[in-house]
Amino acid sequence: METPEVLISRERIAERVNELATRIDADYDGIAELVLIGVLKGSFMFLSDLARALTIPHRIEFIAVSSYGDEESIHSGAVRLIMDVRHAIEGKHVIVVEDIVDTGHTISYLLRLLAARQPASIKTITLLRKPDRAEVDVPVDYLGFDIPDVWVVGYGLDYAERHRTLPDICEIEPVS
Ligand code: PRP
Repeated sequence: METPEVLISRERIAERVNELATRIDADYDGIAELVLIGVLKGSFMFLSDLARALTIPHRIEFIAVSSYGDEESIHSGAVRLIMDVRHAIEGKHVIVVEDIVDTGHTISYLLRLLAARQPASIKTITLLRKPDRAEVDVPVDYLGFDIPDVWVVGYGLDYAERHRTLPDICEIEPVS
């Protein structure tokens, strides 16, 4: 595997995270509490920076999902819940926090799952999106960056669990 090359620097990430937090602060001004639901594991760094940049009252939850491992499910995009949020979200304003929207299946599944619990509102934020890989149309309310269809690691994203804690978002050439 080649050395990761910086695609989006830590400075650009920080600037964008602050811009997104400012927009969210304005959009939710006056609400009692916003619930940020981070999708493990990839979102943990983005969520922690975003949450620290917000000034509105908010609470953190985590949720974890996994693709079914078999061939057929990989192609159908089937997703299953492996860890749920701790507290009920009924009547709450919710933002689902993702590191990346790729095919869109994960966020699509989570929106269906969480909307059925009757939150006051539900929106999505993702740091990255790969428009060329979209298989389902999903609403992205707050977007960091659209990126080309390349392998990215760092700032929470991994390649086979490697490079997750690099401070920049980097491109790698996976070994074939
Ligand atoms: C990544 C990412 C999203 C999902 C997006 O998670 O964090 O949750 O894939 O892909 P999709 O739009 O095609 O559904 P991954 O399965 O790599 O797990 P991880 O976050 O634990 O690394």
